[in-house]
Amino acid sequence: MTGTYNTKSAGETISHALLFGGTLRRGDVVALYGDLGSGKTQFVKGVCLAYNITTPVTSPSFVILNRYEGRDKKNDELFVYHFDLYRVKSTAELYDLGYEELLQNNGICLIEWAEMLGGLLPERRYDVRLSLGDNENERLIEISGPDKK
Ligand SMILES: Nc1ncnc2c1ncn2[C@@H]1O[C@H](COP(=O)(O)OP(=O)(O)OP(=O)(O)O)[C@@H](O)[C@H]1O
Ligand SMILES: [Mg+2]
Repeated sequence: MTGTYNTKSAGETISHALLFGGTLRRGDVVALYGDLGSGKTQFVKGVCLAYNITTPVTSPSFVILNRYEGRDKKNDELFVYHFDLYRVKSTAELYDLGYEELLQNNGICLIEWAEMLGGLLPERRYDVRLSLGDNENERLIEISGPDKK
């Protein structure tokens, strides 16, 4: 599921993310990059669908972190951690959340505005870059990883 994709609607982005989500394993970290409105949260929605999460997925702008309870393919409980670091000014704010342990636990971590973490991002991760296309509802999605870079 690495590669470059063009989507023509939010629904298509969600569908791609659902397929991508199905290829993830416990402990995987997905760093999401892209401007405001590029579709990072839509992508997270799709990944959550892969884990049968029914809670509405929204940008956790005011809380930095949302935790969704999902199920893996064996129907075992799996947590999806959804970070939004847009408003985070220093990584010190993140230590209180215990983000280090979360990045290493056996759930799945999705991080909007991942550039905020810089060198603190684990080396083994997926990078998902979203950008606007030529038309209003077009987006370019570039997925790379999780090989070491
Ligand atoms: N092809 C597309 N893929 C994803 N979203 C799209 C697409 N076309 C239109 N949209 C719309 O663009 C918006 C993307 O919003 P979203 O909240 O996912 O962006 P975001 O990158 O998470 O922004 P923020 O940085 O503010 O959290 C939604 O309103 C969505 O309906
Ligand atoms: Mg968002």
